[in-house]
Amino acid sequence: MSIRFTAEQRSPLEVTDTLLVPVLADGSLDASVQELDRALDGALRQGLSSLGLSGRVGQAAVLPTWGRLPARCLVVTGIGSQERQTADQIRRAWGAAAQAAAEAGVRTLSSPLPAVEGLDPGAVCRAAVEGVGLGAYRFLEYRTSSEAARQLEHVVFLADPAAVERPIARGRTTVEAVNLARDLVNRPANDLSPERLAGIAWELAEQVGLECTVYDRGMLEEIGAGAILAVGQGSRHEPRLIHLVYRPAGDSLASIGLVGKGVTFDSGGLSIKPAEGMERMKGDMAGAAAVIGTLRAVAELGLPLTVHGVVAAAENMPDGAAFRPGDILRALNGKTIEVISTDAEGRLLLADALTYAARQGVQLLIDLATLTGACVVALGKQGTGLFGTDRALLDGLVRAGERAGEKLWPLPLWDEYLELLKSEHADIKNTGGRWGGAVNAALFLREFTEGVTWAHLDIAGPAWAERAGPLGPAGGTGHGVCTLVYFLEDYANR
Ligand code: BES
Ligand code: MN
Ligand code: ZN
Repeated sequence: MSIRFTAEQRSPLEVTDTLLVPVLADGSLDASVQELDRALDGALRQGLSSLGLSGRVGQAAVLPTWGRLPARCLVVTGIGSQERQTADQIRRAWGAAAQAAAEAGVRTLSSPLPAVEGLDPGAVCRAAVEGVGLGAYRFLEYRTSSEAARQLEHVVFLADPAAVERPIARGRTTVEAVNLARDLVNRPANDLSPERLAGIAWELAEQVGLECTVYDRGMLEEIGAGAILAVGQGSRHEPRLIHLVYRPAGDSLASIGLVGKGVTFDSGGLSIKPAEGMERMKGDMAGAAAVIGTLRAVAELGLPLTVHGVVAAAENMPDGAAFRPGDILRALNGKTIEVISTDAEGRLLLADALTYAARQGVQLLIDLATLTGACVVALGKQGTGLFGTDRALLDGLVRAGERAGEKLWPLPLWDEYLELLKSEHADIKNTGGRWGGAVNAALFLREFTEGVTWAHLDIAGPAWAERAGPLGPAGGTGHGVCTLVYFLEDYANR
């Protein structure tokens, strides 16, 4: 992200370039900019209502000041009602403001910071940084025209620089991690094979100081990762297991494993998917992207935790060499799996990746995967299905999600449904029928966690946005990164 964030202790009336103006749901100006309205004798407030600007979060507009204020123009953004302010509202409001500003060709934006009840000023500033950085995100790597170059360059917070320096840095780190994940999800499969994904992880490791080990086909054969190998065997691009490790310079309070599904393209394999919408399946590595993004943030934040990032990457293709329905695989933990559908490939990859991660001596395992359409049916496009074996872990993730502005909702792991995964000829089969698809998939995964405390995030819905919003364009969302970053920060501060 090239946007600079700085701070200066000034009043909004001293701003001569573009000024951000937070407006409440009732149409009144936030207390941080009330001097403006006084200077204009209430004209601004009237102007807003005649323009139909309601103060709703997500609504933003650029207004001229006609020389009546020192500021050249205003970016008005809705922040909702005074009583129910949250970090996420601030994030979205600043995202909408950043988009409106960039659209109007604004390069430098000066921003007051509202006082929000229950949030310290640092948290407000961090949310604003995150909103600007996420809202301004564009994926332009494949555009050959320069049409898109309108970019916000600099945000100046009207605040004590010493008080907001750290929140700015933390917000920035979070943004860069989320936007890295978005870039990976948006990158098409012809430019993102498992090998290339491993290369990107490797480069990141060099850059921010992580250990990185990449298992190629030969090494996967050696360790016995039969499930990963099966999913990848129909593609000319061989599978990879990517293992990143962050080790803190000082004491490590705990060791945590993050596991991601990295299907660089999911055609369904021989159980091929319908053509409609198949292009979205370039994003079937969003779990992997979230893990890689989070490791980047963890390294930059220097958290006192050891974090393992384990990604199972493969391309799921139909081919003469592809694995078939009916095949029986031997997973890394020795269990045999009967393949019913080659389109239930994510749980196969995760089976081996979870076992591998569990064996790194972690106290906690968290996996992220665009795992089931059923989860999208259950919770809709915005909800992450949350499963796990430990109540405190699930609560911690839900709370982190609330602050991150990501919706996680607990779903059950009912032992009774294990029945549905019984196979005629193997230890387990890879699908459990139509009903409760997200639950069955999670139950399948649990068999490969070696008894380690575990949570599973099914991000099939929220990983990909159908439409643009205040926090970014349509496409990959980087969902899960922000939640994990907040969760791990909390965990380190317990
Ligand atoms: N990658 C898909 C799940 C998916 C669906 C992600 C829609 C994002 C949007 C996964 O590999 C898959 O195909 N799941 C099957 C499982 C079924 C065969 C048991 C599904 O959900 O239909
Ligand atoms: Mn699939
Ligand atoms: Zn898939």
